[in-house]
Amino acid sequence: MSTSNPASYVLVNSSDSHAESDDLDTVHTGLVGYFCGRLTLAPLEEMNPKSILELGAGSGAWAIDAAARFPQAHVLATDLFPMPPRGSIPSNLRFMQLDLSKSYPFEDESFDVIHGRFIIMHLANGPEALSRIVKLLKPGGWLLLEEPDDELLDHNGRNTGLAGASAFAQKFHNALRRRGADPVIGPKLAELLKRSYQFMEINVKLVTLPLSGHDFGSAANALAKVWKARYKHLGRTTPAKLAGEGMTEEDGREFIARLDDPNFNQTSMLNIVWAKKRIDYAHSPRLIRAKY
Ligand SMILES: C[S@@+](CC[C@H](N)C(=O)[O-])C[C@H]1O[C@@H](n2cnc3c(N)ncnc32)[C@H](O)[C@@H]1O
Repeated sequence: MSTSNPASYVLVNSSDSHAESDDLDTVHTGLVGYFCGRLTLAPLEEMNPKSILELGAGSGAWAIDAAARFPQAHVLATDLFPMPPRGSIPSNLRFMQLDLSKSYPFEDESFDVIHGRFIIMHLANGPEALSRIVKLLKPGGWLLLEEPDDELLDHNGRNTGLAGASAFAQKFHNALRRRGADPVIGPKLAELLKRSYQFMEINVKLVTLPLSGHDFGSAANALAKVWKARYKHLGRTTPAKLAGEGMTEEDGREFIARLDDPNFNQTSMLNIVWAKKRIDYAHSPRLIRAKY
């Protein structure tokens, strides 16, 4: 049993639900497929990372995969809830239960790589959490973030926003906002990183995912299938969790019906960001010589 307050998280968590854990594993496999078998679009293989931090690990899928791909690295997976029991876990992976919306028990510049997927949108005061996260990254280290976008087009091609599309999505977003989180922080991430002046390279890939009625090519379509299944899973499992905040089973059913309606022509967006932290002269003797 978890010691965290379940009310602080709006979804069912992986340690209490096999279905949620399995669903997050499926999304991980879908994303690795979209990245052509890679863990990320950043060139991690070139840097040979020694320390990797996973934020909001959920089922542990990304952290386990990272630990297997980089056996020389220490991988630390964190989450508000314990990681669910897994068959076998690489020996270079550790788990720490941690509330990422509070202060962190790590020294600045401790990690070569920090990854977070669908987690910043859940954190109270996401921008503040992000600046704490950036401090943990070593100079030259990679920050890898994947968060959804609010953009959702209706059958007339108008952007209704996810919340505009259904009562379910609106109540989901409102529940996050009540907790001080920003459900649509995804499209703001690159600008937040730019304004931190801590990065020498910021890459963004916006993936448009056709949930119904569109065709954007095999790679996006394959990921969209996984994405749609995830949304349907959330439609089934979230009403019970947010019943006290006015979400009904009917909201979930109506959301699922819309996703299944080929005439609704819905698309969704995923923001993928990979950014390399600035290397200051102070951290690079070679560069100091080059300066004079
Ligand atoms: C949607 S799941 C994503 C899990 C995982 N990153 C993935 O992509 O499979 C969000 C995760 O964030 C965790 N979480 C939510 N709020 C958190 C917080 N304040 N501190 C740490 N973890 C948190 C949840 O417990 C959950 O495991």
